[in-house]
Amino acid sequence: MINMSQITKVYNTGNVAFEALRGIDLDVADNEYIAIVGPSGSGKSTLMNLMGCLDTPSSGKYELEGHRVDALTANQLAEIRNTKVGFVFQAFNLLPYASAYENVELPLLFAGMRARERRMRVMELLNRVGLGDKIANKPTEMSGGEMQRTAIARALANRPKLILADEPTGNLDTKSGAEIIRIFDELWETGHTVIVITHDINIANHCKRVIKLKDGMIFNGIGARVN
Ligand SMILES: Nc1ncnc2c1ncn2[C@@H]1O[C@H](COP(=O)(O)OP(=O)(O)O)[C@@H](O)[C@H]1O
Ligand SMILES: [Mg+2]
Repeated sequence: MINMSQITKVYNTGNVAFEALRGIDLDVADNEYIAIVGPSGSGKSTLMNLMGCLDTPSSGKYELEGHRVDALTANQLAEIRNTKVGFVFQAFNLLPYASAYENVELPLLFAGMRARERRMRVMELLNRVGLGDKIANKPTEMSGGEMQRTAIARALANRPKLILADEPTGNLDTKSGAEIIRIFDELWETGHTVIVITHDINIANHCKRVIKLKDGMIFNGIGARVN
């Protein structure tokens, strides 16, 4: 699913260049369940943004499902991203004035899905994350766990195979966090590739593979356990 070789990412701020990723070699097969761990500033979010085609690397080669994506234009990247990748963020990133229903509907509207089909798909998605009875609630009327479940339903709207989550339980209590991980388990069991950035050792060890980042490099990619 993912083939990265010698990926670097340099951020230029003012006239200072900072190398956030320094030569990442990484292969991810279909239907893996991976945790990415590492200290703050080690490049986890940068790596995830590249994996999900939110950004392009400064150098190196990246193939996503066989497509060369390291040198695409912003529009080409957006097209790949919208069909192949679902994102889940720590801060949920829901539209504050829109209901759960409308938040999940948005990517389907953008994709041009017709009204009847859209209604069925939104309900299917919200039922799948256990929110069939909260469709009219706005983010201010939801718990953190409910907001994150809405965000997952939205991430799944266009049936992406790859689910990328950046500290998805970072703002949640233990019980809500466990519910989110249970949903990721189900997604993995139904064939998705799930990659989760996490600070939670229990979640990392629950995943089937742990990638440790430090100073922009992977220092133990295969079969690592966090202790
Ligand atoms: N847009 C940006 N512009 C400049 N520097 C950035 C940018 N994004 C991240 N960085 C820097 O790159 C490094 C890695 O950041 P990040 O990938 O967010 O790390 P992590 O997610 O592991 O905490 C940090 O030193 C951060 O300050
Ligand atoms: Mg981060």
